[in-house]
Amino acid sequence: PEIVNYVVQAGGKRLRPALVVLSAQLGGLQSDDPITVGAASELIHLATLIHDDIVDRAVLRHRKPTAAVKFGDEVAILLGDFLYVEAFSLLSSLNDPPLLDLFARSTRTMCHGEINQVRRRFQLDLSLSEYLSFIDHKTATLMGAAMRGGARLARLSTEQSTALGHYGWNLGMAFQIIDDTLDLVGEEGVTGKTLRTDLINGKLTLPLIWLRDKLSEPDREKFLERLREPTLENVQKIINWVKESGGIKEGLRQAANFATQAGTALLRFPDSTPRDTLISISRYIVTRTR
Ligand code: IPE
Ligand code: IPE
Ligand code: MG
Ligand code: MG
Repeated sequence: PEIVNYVVQAGGKRLRPALVVLSAQLGGLQSDDPITVGAASELIHLATLIHDDIVDRAVLRHRKPTAAVKFGDEVAILLGDFLYVEAFSLLSSLNDPPLLDLFARSTRTMCHGEINQVRRRFQLDLSLSEYLSFIDHKTATLMGAAMRGGARLARLSTEQSTALGHYGWNLGMAFQIIDDTLDLVGEEGVTGKTLRTDLINGKLTLPLIWLRDKLSEPDREKFLERLREPTLENVQKIINWVKESGGIKEGLRQAANFATQAGTALLRFPDSTPRDTLISISRYIVTRTR
């Protein structure tokens, strides 16, 4: 229990459970089932982060040493497995196979995204569309599922559930693009997690891809050379270059586009408190610093 409590009580933004609950509220549902599904979505997320921190060799998460630093890689790997099982056990308690399948599919997709991204590390020809597919798989799909899960509990129509799924997916795309800009220019004291891991691990993200593709040939060679050897000095130079070239701004711009699409998906729903809250969330995530 103390190992589970260490990661569960650390707390994050709890965004995915908020999506499940708000989506169900939008459908007028009064029951505790969204809490169960929301908890499951957060456990899936937490398991993902525990494994992701091993992959990324991060040392800080939720303002504390990562599970791997605290308990060792072996325990952290098994803890992640344990939390996945807890999540699916919670979901199965609702006796709704399509709901279980929704989260099974999105978790499988998330694993695909993480695996594909790892396999493309330090391959500096990564295209924008490949990057977008990674973030679709590893982040946006689960947020879409959180919204659809709430919609299913509230017995919303297929059209309404699809619209809410679009909201979650677009929010997730914006969310990960912002996360990737924060990895470059954010502050660890604010995010509470290890930053600059993408550069150090050879993961090309939107601002880097954008800059690479607009540089002249000799500059591009210099840029790629620095990416290939992410020493402290090179990392700092790359970050300055991306900042000065407008790469971070481009990330914010593209994230804002996805966030706007998310808001648009809600237009078909009548005005209500949960709808307003979802719109606020879509605005918040592009300005967030943590
Ligand atoms: C971090 O997600 C992992 C990504 C998908 C970028 P969150 O920012 O939602 O994690 P919390 O809020 O710290 O749990
Ligand atoms: C991983 O992306 C997101 C997952 C879905 C696991 P990141 O590696 O950017 O997440 P953080 O920055 O460690 O939270
Ligand atoms: Mg990471
Ligand atoms: Mg990140």
